[in-house]
Amino acid sequence: MIAVKVVDRQGQCATFSAESGQRLLQAGLASGVGLPHECATGTCGSCKATVVKGDVRRLWPEAPGAKALRSANETLLCQSAADVPVELSLRANFIPPYEPAPRETKGELSLVRELTSEVALFSIALRDPIVWQPGQFVLVSGLGIEGARGYSMTREVADPSRIDLLIRKDPSGRFSTALFDDLGRSHEVAVFGSLGRATFSCDEGRPFIAMAGGSGIAGILAILNHAMNGGHFSKHQSKLFFGLRDAASSYLLDEISAAVAASQNNLAVTVAFSNEACSPEFAARYPNINFVDGFVHDVVRAAMQSGAVPADTNPIFFVAGPPVMVNATMRMLVTECKVSPAEIRYDRFG
Ligand code: FES
Repeated sequence: MIAVKVVDRQGQCATFSAESGQRLLQAGLASGVGLPHECATGTCGSCKATVVKGDVRRLWPEAPGAKALRSANETLLCQSAADVPVELSLRANFIPPYEPAPRETKGELSLVRELTSEVALFSIALRDPIVWQPGQFVLVSGLGIEGARGYSMTREVADPSRIDLLIRKDPSGRFSTALFDDLGRSHEVAVFGSLGRATFSCDEGRPFIAMAGGSGIAGILAILNHAMNGGHFSKHQSKLFFGLRDAASSYLLDEISAAVAASQNNLAVTVAFSNEACSPEFAARYPNINFVDGFVHDVVRAAMQSGAVPADTNPIFFVAGPPVMVNATMRMLVTECKVSPAEIRYDRFG
């Protein structure tokens, strides 16, 4: 085992051990150390650290998150491994550690249902159940392809050793391409989790405004599912804004429409199509859903500015989707709608 020492911006120090070749972020989080991160897959840049002593192996130097690195001594903890003892310093402070600490297990990944030609619902039968909260995600790796991908759990199921994930085919991604090339086949995968702080509990006793772009809906659906099962909608009116390209690429609208009905309309859902207007015939299939044209963050802005989202209800804001959509929505909420960043929960991954 390799000794790893990390010092944060305030001078707080933590130590943990990593196996040679193990990703330092995963090793630290599994040891109960609150290493800062969001995506855990090399996209966001929030896990960057400076190598002060020793050295690390960069596992994916071209990771999109590496754009956040400013010197040759800096590295992404989620894309680094150590073969010798190493000391690192963080620009940020440690975050509260997960409870329980995430860990790795194995599982069998298989298709549940194809939703469109590029989005499908999969399940993983886990060897050991993992504990997760609505809004969290896991890292999945396997199929002989290097690296891990983050996918949100999409609904609560009775069997604790099963998790359901929404996976989008990314034409530039070898993992999802391999999955979609042979949907009938199941795969042995490694699962690390649970991760993510954009979580929700009915015990919080507050309404929520959720905004999802594309497959970012997965974690939001788990939140809806939890809210439904916990009686949230009998006490609080909440809203969902869901951005999709067009009617042809839409999915899960039956489930969302059923959630609106079960909430007795205390959940209001708006679906925004960015590429084309929604036809009256299509809209008529989902009378519980309000269809509009435009990008989802523009639609949310208009709703906020028209007073359709009253600030005095003290809502929690959830933003989920690709980093570009999350960044645009965060900017809009904070700078234009004056929402406190402390009230917005998000994880940029994808
Ligand atoms: Fe490492 Fe996002 S780049 S957590």
